[in-house]
Amino acid sequence: MLQEKRITIAVDGYSSCGKSTLAKALAKSLGYVFIDSGAMYRGVTLYCMRQQLIQHSKPQVDLIEKELHNIRLTFEFNEASASSDLFLNGENVEKLIRMPDVAANVSKIATIKSVRHKLVEEQRAIGQDGGIVMDGRDIGSVVFPDAELKLFVTAAPEIRAQRRKKELEEKGVIISLDEVIANLMERDMIDSTRAESPLIQVEDAIVIDTTELTREEQLLKALELVEAAACRS
Ligand code: CDP
Repeated sequence: MLQEKRITIAVDGYSSCGKSTLAKALAKSLGYVFIDSGAMYRGVTLYCMRQQLIQHSKPQVDLIEKELHNIRLTFEFNEASASSDLFLNGENVEKLIRMPDVAANVSKIATIKSVRHKLVEEQRAIGQDGGIVMDGRDIGSVVFPDAELKLFVTAAPEIRAQRRKKELEEKGVIISLDEVIANLMERDMIDSTRAESPLIQVEDAIVIDTTELTREEQLLKALELVEAAACRS
């Protein structure tokens, strides 16, 4: 029997809309690789914060460019959480990159052209053989413009904020809903208005609104779309 083609699936959307949850479940169910591209931007941000390359909330772009070759990002599967952890120069930073201080800086770092070039190159290398689900902001537009399936995930703003607050609380971070909302709004604004590969819904993307769907329902819907895309390709 012919093996079904292992396609490339791009999942884009605004902050905390359920992209990673859906992308992870999809990859697991298909036996594909899952890559959270946002984790990579968060990893670069953590490095810059530690090296004091962000001064008074402003990234020091020239200094950051010079440091990029010293930043090595890798993913390793974590059996306990059943997903991949991000390693920064060999250190597991999965927990640290999810913290509010990194979230407060990441979108500024993600506007830097040289940072995006480095990460897009690495993301393409990881996905070159297909059989991948990658989530982010520019996956369908820039990283994999030829992806066989492009999903654009949305959810109502209050649901996004409540989900992120709950996720943070599960990690032991106590934060007000207002603080979460402020961070999501700021990142949405920076991400969709930046000059370099802004977040857009590309024409050939299919929208999945997760507001009123359970995780199971989102996954079933996405799996139907995968089947249709695999048949088309
Ligand atoms: O999980 P959440 O939706 O909060 O964000 P994320 O996927 O972890 O991404 C964090 C930040 O990285 C975003 O707000 C963007 O500024 C940036 N990012 C990007 O510019 N391009 C990507 N492909 C992925 C993330």
